[in-house]
Amino acid sequence: MLDKKNILIGVTGGIAAYKVVEVASRLKKAGANVRVMMTRAATEFVSPRTFQEITGNAVFVEMFGDAAHFHVAHVALADFADLVLIAPATANFLAKAAHGIADDLLTTTILAFDKEILIAPSMNTKMYENPATQANLAILKARGVKILEPASGNLACGVVGKGRLPEPEEIFATIEKIFAPSTKALSGKKILVTAGGTVEAIDPVRYIGNRSSGRMGYEIAKSAVNAGAEVILISGKSELEPPNDLKFIKIESALQMREAVLKDFDSVDAVIMSAAVADYRVKNPAAQKIKKSADTLTLELVKNPDILKELGGLKNSQVLVGFAAETQNILEYANKKLVEKNLDFIVANDVTAEGAGFGVSTNIASIIWRGGNVENFPKMSKADLAEKIIERVASLLNNDKKFPAANVNQ
Ligand code: CTP
Repeated sequence: MLDKKNILIGVTGGIAAYKVVEVASRLKKAGANVRVMMTRAATEFVSPRTFQEITGNAVFVEMFGDAAHFHVAHVALADFADLVLIAPATANFLAKAAHGIADDLLTTTILAFDKEILIAPSMNTKMYENPATQANLAILKARGVKILEPASGNLACGVVGKGRLPEPEEIFATIEKIFAPSTKALSGKKILVTAGGTVEAIDPVRYIGNRSSGRMGYEIAKSAVNAGAEVILISGKSELEPPNDLKFIKIESALQMREAVLKDFDSVDAVIMSAAVADYRVKNPAAQKIKKSADTLTLELVKNPDILKELGGLKNSQVLVGFAAETQNILEYANKKLVEKNLDFIVANDVTAEGAGFGVSTNIASIIWRGGNVENFPKMSKADLAEKIIERVASLLNNDKKFPAANVNQ
C-alpha cells in the first residue's frame, strides 16, 4: 500500500522526536520513499544523521544551506511528497502553520504543499489545552489538515495528561489508512452540504436570524465524510465545532451562501441544502449603529434569491436534496418545494413536533421522493437521520436502486 509512496516527514523540536525515527523506519520498510526535514530545535533532540541513515536520504534543516543541491528546496520537497507528516508537532509549529508563517524550511515547505497533511501534536498538557493551541488546531482542521490526537499518559515534563505523541505503530497505521484504497459508498464523490442559519445585517450590531442550530447539516457532513466523500460544508451561524476532514466555509448572509454554493456547484456530485436561508434581507443595512429615536422603526426587506431553486435550474447530473421545515400541511408544502426546486428528494419535518426541529438532537422526518413516494421515519437522532439521507444520496449516485424511488414505510 505504501510502496513507492513519497512521504515527507517534518520533525519539530519536541522530546518525542526520537519516536519518529521508528516511524521513518517502518515507512521505509513498507516501501515508501521517505525524506525528512527538521527544524533546528528538532536537531537538539535527534541528530539529522540518524534520520539520514534510516531513510537513505539527505536530511534537510536549513533553508539556504544543506539543501543547495535541490533547486528551490521547499518547492522541490513539497512537489516530491504525496503526504507530509509533521511529528512531533510543537505548539509553536501549530501556531505558525495555522497563520501561514514561513520562517524556516519546514514551515515554508508546508505553505508550498497542497496535498495531504497529517499532524501529530505532542506537548505539555497545559500547552495542548491552551485556547491558543486549540484555536490553531481548529483552523488547521477546518482547512482539511488531518490531526492525530495526542495520547494521555506520563509526559516528559513529569505531568500526567494529554499530550503524548501516539506510538509509532499508531502513526504508521494512520498513514496506511490514508493511502488505503477506499470502497466506501461515497468514495470518489464530492458532496456539498449547507448548514446553519443565515444572518442578515440590519446595522453593524443587529441582524435578522433564525433558530437553526446547524446540527442537522453538520451531522450530514460528518456522515458524508464517513462514507468516504470529499465534503464541503458551507455554514451560516452555528455554535458547533467544524467537523474533521472536510473543507469548511463560514458565511453570514444568504447572498454570501449563494456565492459560495455556486462557486463549487459545477464540481460536486450532490448538494444537500439543510441551511435555513433567510427569505428576505434588509434592503439598506445601516452603515452605523441605528440609534433609538421614534416609537416605531420600519425595516424594508427585499427577497433573497432562492439558492436551491437556482441550483434546480442549473443542475445536470448532480443529486439535489432539500429540506422543508414546516409547521402545517407538511407533505403538501414539501412536495410543492420538491417539484418547484427540481429536487431528487426532500426531507420534510414538522418543526413544532416534540423531538423535532430547532436546537434538539432528534428529528422526526419524512423523505419525499420525486414521483411522490414517501418514507416516514420515527423519531431518531439527527446523526441517524443524517446517515439515512447519505445512504439515499449514495444510492442515487451509484445507481444501485437500493431505494426504488422508495415506497418503503419504516
Ligand atoms: N432555500 C434556499 N434559498 C432560500 C430559501 C430556502 O436554498 N432563499 C432552501 C433551503 O435550504 C431548503 C429549501 O430551500 O433546503 C426549502 O426551504 P424553506 O425555507 O422550507 O422553503 P422556502 O422555499 O423558503 O419556502 P417558505 O419559506 O415559503 O416555506
